[in-house]
Amino acid sequence: MGRPDALVTRRPKTGVSAASWRSALVTGASSGIGEQFARQIAAAGVDVVLVARRVDRLDALARELRELDVVMEVLPADLSTPAGRAAVAARLADPERPIDLLVNNAGLGVATAFAEVTPTATARSSTSTSWPLSS
Ligand SMILES: NC(=O)c1ccc[n+]([C@@H]2O[C@H](COP(=O)([O-])OP(=O)(O)OC[C@H]3O[C@@H](n4cnc5c(N)ncnc54)[C@H](OP(=O)(O)O)[C@@H]3O)[C@@H](O)[C@H]2O)c1
Repeated sequence: MGRPDALVTRRPKTGVSAASWRSALVTGASSGIGEQFARQIAAAGVDVVLVARRVDRLDALARELRELDVVMEVLPADLSTPAGRAAVAARLADPERPIDLLVNNAGLGVATAFAEVTPTATARSSTSTSWPLSS
């Protein structure tokens, strides 16, 4: 597994280069930062698995990005549930359809003073992370 900074060194100042990646999985791809990650990665010619709960938005994005001649897969999953996480983990571990790049972006921010953040809110939030699964 490569180091996180490998992503930075491979990335040009604008856009995403295809590098050696052939497939990526983006969580939180139905809106915001994750959707933009998916757009940039597909535009670089990399196949993308789109993960989120709003399947209508994922379907629409997949239809649009297939025009770029990449394979777009929709994987509806609620990552706050064990079943949702298991579905994504199983897809990531599928040896028949390897994923080279994980953009684990899904989540929500806790917009409050640190001293007021509750353990529940912290547990529900996550930060944007991404790392290559293989070099
Ligand atoms: N925007 C910023 O300035 C900023 C700054 C720092 C960090 N971040 C972090 O970056 C991430 C994305 O932010 P954003 O602004 O792009 O937010 P956003 O537009 O609200 O997008 C959040 C994405 O996460 C997905 N998501 C949320 N809960 C989910 C769940 N339980 N299961 C599966 N997917 C889920 C949403 O899809 P569905 O609702 O369809 O499931 C959506 O695609 C968040 O973790 C946020 O905290 C954002």
